[in-house]
Amino acid sequence: MSLKHEHHHHHKRGEWSSSLGFILAAAGSAVGLGNIWKFPGRAYRGGGGAFLLVYILIVVFIGSVAMLSEFAVGRNTNSNAVGAFNKLNPKWKIAGWLGIITGFIVSCYYIQVGGWVLNYIIAYVTEPSAVFADPLNYFYGVLGANGFPLMGAIVYPAIFIGICMFVLFKGVSGGIEKFNKIAMPGIVFLLLVLLVRSVTMPGAMEGVKYLLHVDFKTLTSGTILSALGQAFYSLSIGLAIMVTYGSYLKKEENIVKNVGYICFFDTMVAIVAGFMIIPAVFATGVDPGIGGGFAFASLAGVFHQMSGGAFFGALFYLLLLFAALTSEISLVEGTIAFISEEYHVNRKKTIIILGVVMFVIGVFYTLSQLYLPIKGVWFDLANGLQFPSFGDFLEFVTDRLLMPLGALLFCIFVGWVWRPENAIKEVEQDGAFTFKLAKLWSVMVKFVVPVAIFIVLVCGLVFGMSIS
Ligand code: PHE
Repeated sequence: MSLKHEHHHHHKRGEWSSSLGFILAAAGSAVGLGNIWKFPGRAYRGGGGAFLLVYILIVVFIGSVAMLSEFAVGRNTNSNAVGAFNKLNPKWKIAGWLGIITGFIVSCYYIQVGGWVLNYIIAYVTEPSAVFADPLNYFYGVLGANGFPLMGAIVYPAIFIGICMFVLFKGVSGGIEKFNKIAMPGIVFLLLVLLVRSVTMPGAMEGVKYLLHVDFKTLTSGTILSALGQAFYSLSIGLAIMVTYGSYLKKEENIVKNVGYICFFDTMVAIVAGFMIIPAVFATGVDPGIGGGFAFASLAGVFHQMSGGAFFGALFYLLLLFAALTSEISLVEGTIAFISEEYHVNRKKTIIILGVVMFVIGVFYTLSQLYLPIKGVWFDLANGLQFPSFGDFLEFVTDRLLMPLGALLFCIFVGWVWRPENAIKEVEQDGAFTFKLAKLWSVMVKFVVPVAIFIVLVCGLVFGMSIS
């Protein structure tokens, strides 16, 4: 009788079917566009080797600490981001909301960028010469410089979110986990193929040397900040996504070890991406950059000069596609868990509604780049606030303000409200496992990590977009 009663009131939650599946899914969230089009350019600007070393230290001592906090809260509460805070201390619910809202915004524009990636896979297969003839204008065309961007804003993004929705429909272990078990090895394979192609280009060794050369004189406070911000973004921290993924963990899973694997995997992908991009850029004399303009326009200069460039270009955008899909899936899952659990909406219904809403809002991200400003119907934030477009402004707000703020509140919550002892208990909860670095972790989560995030947050806002 009582069992039946229980069943009525508790939604059946998803659960990872294996440690490997969980590790790959969380690594899939972490490994995204940031690893491939932000990390290499930042490593280059940060002076190469010294940046890599600092980045690794930041991941080990700061990123992993924050990630472990999110997993511990998630598994302890077995809830979505808002539900988790609700169970531990309802006053902090707002921090959960912040994660959900930020994730929602990021998710909307990630769909569009995923669509552009799809557009480029097709372009490199069907008309590479059109891309090579004038890379920048080709990119502008995708964004709507020559008329309504039907493909770039509507058709390709719709396919992209459609794939995500299909995977999400199949559930946590049957969908997300299964998809990542294919996509993550795919990412590793493509990365290695492209790495070999890049470093065997004539002149590529200069790029390899640049990345291996450690010169601490290149380290400025700006470089360290850039590495800190990159680490948080890359590890998907601050949106409570790792809370949601952690909430599907079985109690016997070793959280500490899993955090280690996920951080290692994400960092390896970033570093290998550096060794894929920078040598090719050195070999061809292309300017190493960061972000979409670099990945969609500048890199065409690399592929144009490379033998087999159209083929390797298509593989590169395929790599970006896998990376973007696994991250987008995690972004949407965070919101799905929130809506379906907090408002008791059926999971499939939630996916359809969310997918459509996110897609529709996202369309304006692409339109705001060139189409609407050109048509003169978009209010011109560009001049007043010195932001290139409304879309870039949104990206700035999420990356520089909301994500660090989410991460900061989360650490303060775990360190000072829920308290580290409870997180440690959760980590050690099968009784057989001792979390050896528990003391160190407590100190980090209470003092070091919040201070580090606070600095990133303040400097990111003060220096605005000038710090990359
Ligand atoms: N970590 C992803 C990347 O490196 C971005 C992301 C952030 C994805 C937050 C999900 C959540 O691109």
